[in-house]
Amino acid sequence: MLLKSSKKWQLHSNELTSEKIYLNRREVLKNLGFLGIASGFLDIRALAKEKYPYHYSNNNNYDIDFDRLLTSESKATSYNNFYEFGSTKNIKRKAEKLSTSPWNINIGGLVDKEISIDFDDLIRKVSLEERIYRLRCVEAWSLLVPWIGFPLNSLLKLVVPKSSAKYLVMKTFFDPKTAPFQKQSWYPWPYTEVLTIDEAFNDLAFIATGIYGKILPNQNGAPLRLVVPWKYGFKSIKSIVSFSLVSERPKTFWEEIVPKEYGFWANVNPLVDHPRWSQSKEKDLGTGAYRDTEIFNGYAQWVAHLYKDVKNEENLYR
Ligand code: MTE
Repeated sequence: MLLKSSKKWQLHSNELTSEKIYLNRREVLKNLGFLGIASGFLDIRALAKEKYPYHYSNNNNYDIDFDRLLTSESKATSYNNFYEFGSTKNIKRKAEKLSTSPWNINIGGLVDKEISIDFDDLIRKVSLEERIYRLRCVEAWSLLVPWIGFPLNSLLKLVVPKSSAKYLVMKTFFDPKTAPFQKQSWYPWPYTEVLTIDEAFNDLAFIATGIYGKILPNQNGAPLRLVVPWKYGFKSIKSIVSFSLVSERPKTFWEEIVPKEYGFWANVNPLVDHPRWSQSKEKDLGTGAYRDTEIFNGYAQWVAHLYKDVKNEENLYR
């Protein structure tokens, strides 16, 4: 996140992308092949080596981009925010140190059936699908990515939240030996994100375990990360180790640090500027072109109703 500089939404020219490979969405869908037939356009050797090992179906109910090109895999997996490994976008090498197997996940708090489960067991309990989602970072860049994973609500159904559960708190691992930035004690580690229970049950809220037909790489949040495409990217917490249902809303990681800039709700809205830059446009990291940002990042039809009764309107979009 941009904490020091006062950039406008236009990014500096040295951050502009010169992507040579543009993958058309339909070509990618065809080439990834939902039943595993890969040919043509992608790096076939890489696919053969790292192809996603579990069966997944295709869910294109939320695919709202018919003309937009998918961001290339190389860009989406090499330009990342993962503060545990540093404050630059180039954290891929450092993130390789994270060991993601075994990976224990606890799902508890105000639930009837708390579970503590290894990722390999959890993934067999859910039904996996591929969805193409926009990701709009609060820093005014965006991606279009094919994720593999499962709806967050299917995880919650496994533990049966009690009626007193109002919020879902998610936390990333804490391991300063592996993730050097976690030695910086002025950050409120571990990275924490929170959704309301209604947001968490909304079908758009997704847990990603794969990307571009492959296992999620560490820099994108392996082995599992949240994807909530109607909110700014910082809500999409990576490498989650715990999910906890609670009755009171705790502060999120960024809310602790800069509440006026990166608040709890963080719903994408082109009309509500970040205090230091406009949110009206975004740079598509795939093509380098600027696009108009849309309310709820284009997903209003599925999520706008969640906010009808929220009183603190001013902060809904930050
Ligand atoms: N999760 C953790 N644990 N640590 C982080 O620093 N950065 C967030 C989010 N999830 C972050 C995180 C931000 S600011 C963004 S924009 C997205 O991850 C970026 O996801 P990507 O690297 O897969 O594009």
